[in-house]
Amino acid sequence: MHFNYLKFEKRGKIGILTLNRPEALNALNKDVFKELSCFLEDRETIQSIRVLVVTGEGKAFVAGADIKAMQEYSPQMAYDFSEIGKVVFDQIANLEIPVIAAINGFALGGGLELALSCDIRVASEKARLGLPEVNLGLIPGFNGTQRLPRLVGAGNAMYLMMLGEGVTAAEAYQLGVVQKLAPPESVLEISLELAEKMASKSPNALRLIKLMVREGLELSSEDAGKMESKEFGRLFKEDQKERKEGIDAFLEKRKPNW
Ligand code: CAA
Repeated sequence: MHFNYLKFEKRGKIGILTLNRPEALNALNKDVFKELSCFLEDRETIQSIRVLVVTGEGKAFVAGADIKAMQEYSPQMAYDFSEIGKVVFDQIANLEIPVIAAINGFALGGGLELALSCDIRVASEKARLGLPEVNLGLIPGFNGTQRLPRLVGAGNAMYLMMLGEGVTAAEAYQLGVVQKLAPPESVLEISLELAEKMASKSPNALRLIKLMVREGLELSSEDAGKMESKEFGRLFKEDQKERKEGIDAFLEKRKPNW
């Protein structure tokens, strides 16, 4: 598949997806979203990898939605743009494999929202992260007002959205936006190390962990607990080969073969 704004590379069981529009700091416009959606719908590619790492070309991860393109938007166009972004970011959040954001530089506005749709975030110590929409008379439009408070609590989310200044990677780490910091030249390498570790775990367990966390956040803790017990029970069905292999391998003192 040919893309203008994306690059994709496979390293063994890991896929690396690079936003590739460096002249605009990888800003998100409709074409970028179309390509992202196309990539995420390609089942053959997704099923051929165990972990996806998302990163940006050049000095930015993604500097947000394309401000130039938004200049002429009507309310309907803005609504549609917001919906397109949400659909694509939900596609990422709902992938059955872990997705790591390797934040190589600026992750602002829609760029941070993209990173928030990934499962974990590794950031360059030099990166700046934030939601600066308030400076443009806007609000985050790709689910940032919802994903961020679910990740770091309402107070921290309001702090980032209302100040709109962005924070250093170190502060983002303290707030819980970022799970790991890396020297600028090693962001991808450290993200790939984490990806390799995850790729050695049970794919089915990874899929379920993701599902339980994401769906559970939308349920009462009682209902979420029931959902977990149901899935835990289901893992012990006869046809659940990964559970059998994992437990057998432990007892036989060998590595599991998923
Ligand atoms: N949209 C479109 N173009 C962008 C862009 C964006 N979000 N961010 C940067 N660019 C472009 C610049 O216009 C510039 O293009 P030209 O060379 O044609 O002038 C090029 O990328 C390089 O950017 P800068 O010269 O500004 O680079 P810098 O290093 O001086 O500054 C920056 C970097 C601080 C990230 C600055 O570019 C910036 O503030 N960008 C905008 C960040 C922002 O406000 N993002 C939120 C967008 S709104 C949003 O995302 C809404 C939503 O949720 C739906």
